[in-house]
Amino acid sequence: MSNVAQALTPAPAKGGNGLLTVSGKLDVERIRAEFPILKLKVGGKPLVYLDNAASSQMPQPVIDRLVRYRTTQHSNIHRAVHYLSETATHEYEEARRKLQQFINAREEREVIFTSGTTDAINLVMHGYGRKFVGAGDEIILTTLEHHSNIVPWQMLCEEKGAKIRVVPINDAGELLIDEYESLFSERTKFVGVMHVSNALGTINPIKEMIKFARDREIPVLIDGAQAAPHMKLDVQDLDCDFYAFSGHKICGPTGIGILYGKAALLEKMQPFKGGGDMILSVTFEKTTYNTIPHKFEAGTPPIAAAIALGAAVEYLSAIGMEKIAAYELDLLNYATEQVNRIPGVRIIGTAEKKAAVLSFMVEGVHPHDVGTLLNQDGVAIRTGHHCAQPVMQRFKIPATSRASFAFYNTMAEVDALIAGVRSVQKVFS
Ligand code: ALA
Repeated sequence: MSNVAQALTPAPAKGGNGLLTVSGKLDVERIRAEFPILKLKVGGKPLVYLDNAASSQMPQPVIDRLVRYRTTQHSNIHRAVHYLSETATHEYEEARRKLQQFINAREEREVIFTSGTTDAINLVMHGYGRKFVGAGDEIILTTLEHHSNIVPWQMLCEEKGAKIRVVPINDAGELLIDEYESLFSERTKFVGVMHVSNALGTINPIKEMIKFARDREIPVLIDGAQAAPHMKLDVQDLDCDFYAFSGHKICGPTGIGILYGKAALLEKMQPFKGGGDMILSVTFEKTTYNTIPHKFEAGTPPIAAAIALGAAVEYLSAIGMEKIAAYELDLLNYATEQVNRIPGVRIIGTAEKKAAVLSFMVEGVHPHDVGTLLNQDGVAIRTGHHCAQPVMQRFKIPATSRASFAFYNTMAEVDALIAGVRSVQKVFS
C-alpha cells in the first residue's frame, strides 16, 4: 500500500492529509507519483494526459481498494448472513455514506448507485418524467446540454406529447438567464441543466437557476458529470432536486455513478428497472417495492466499483476539493493565456466562469488532424463534437479540439500542448 493510501486508512483527515500539499498548495509531483498510468510513454514520448473530461485516471489507493475488495471481501450483498456477504454489504453501504458526505446530502438513502450519469438521468426520466409529465407539458433544457441530458427527454416527449424548450447561449458560451426565466409557463414540469459544460467549460449559475425553478415548484435535475471532479459540492446548499455524476470522471472506475435525489421525490417516483433487491414482496398478483434507495437498485449492483468510488471520493476529499479547484483554475488560466498567444488559434467557450476545459480551433486544420498529430507527441486530447452537437451547431463548427485538465496535470504539460499545437500549424503551413 502506498504512503498516501496508508495515510488515508482508516480515517483520512478532512481537507488534506498533509502528504499531498506543500504550504497549503497541491504537491503535484507527489500526487502524480500516485497515478501509475501517468508514467507511461506513448510512441517514446511521456504521456501528457489532457482528456480528463472524457475519463480521469485512477490513483494507487483506489486501485488498491479494488484489489482488496476482490481478494478479501467479495460476495453478493443484501442477500445472505455469511461473513463475506455481510462484509461486502457493509462496505457497499459505507461507500454510499462516503458519497453522501462528498455531496453533503441530508440522508444516505438519497444516494442511489447507478451505472453513471447517463443511467442516472434515464432513471429520473423513467421514474419521475413518465409518471408526472403529460401531453402539452414542457421541459426546459439548455443549448449546452450533453446528449445524455437531451435524448432521454426527447424520448419522453415523443411518448407523452410534451415539448422541450431550450435556453440559448451567448457567443462566450454562457446561458442567457433572462431567456431562461422567460421560458417558464404554467406548462413547465421539469428543468434539466448541466453544472459545467463538457464542451466549453462554462460553469452555469445553477444556484440561481434552481431557485427560480424551485420558487415555482418545478423540480430541477443537475448533470454534474463535469463539476464533481473540479469543485466542492453541496446539494443541500444548491437545493436541487436531483444531481447526477459518474465515477470514472472522479478517479473512480467506469460502470458506476450516482443519482442524488431528495427523499420525498424519490419516494413518489416509480422504479426504473424491475428485478431482485428492489422488492419487499412478490406474488404473481402484486409486487411491493423496497424502500429508497434500494427501490432503484435492481439486480446485483457493481459492488466493487461502488466501493472503489467510495475510496475515490475519500481520496479527493483528503486532498481538498477547494485546493483542487484553485490549482486547476491556475492551469486553465495559464493554458488560456498561452493559446491566446498563438496566431490562428481560436478558443471556443470564453465564459467568465470556467472549469478545466479548453476547446479550440486551429485555423485551416480539422480538429481530428490536430488530435492525431498531438498524439504523436504523446499529448492526449479529445476531438469531435463531445456529445454536444447543439453547441457545435450554435458556433457553426463541426467539432473542436478539447484539452481538459485534472489536478495531476502540470504547467509543463500545458507547455507540451502549446508546443504541439505550434508544430501542427507548421505541418499544415
Ligand atoms: N462526456 C464525456 C466527454 O465530454 C465522454 O468527453
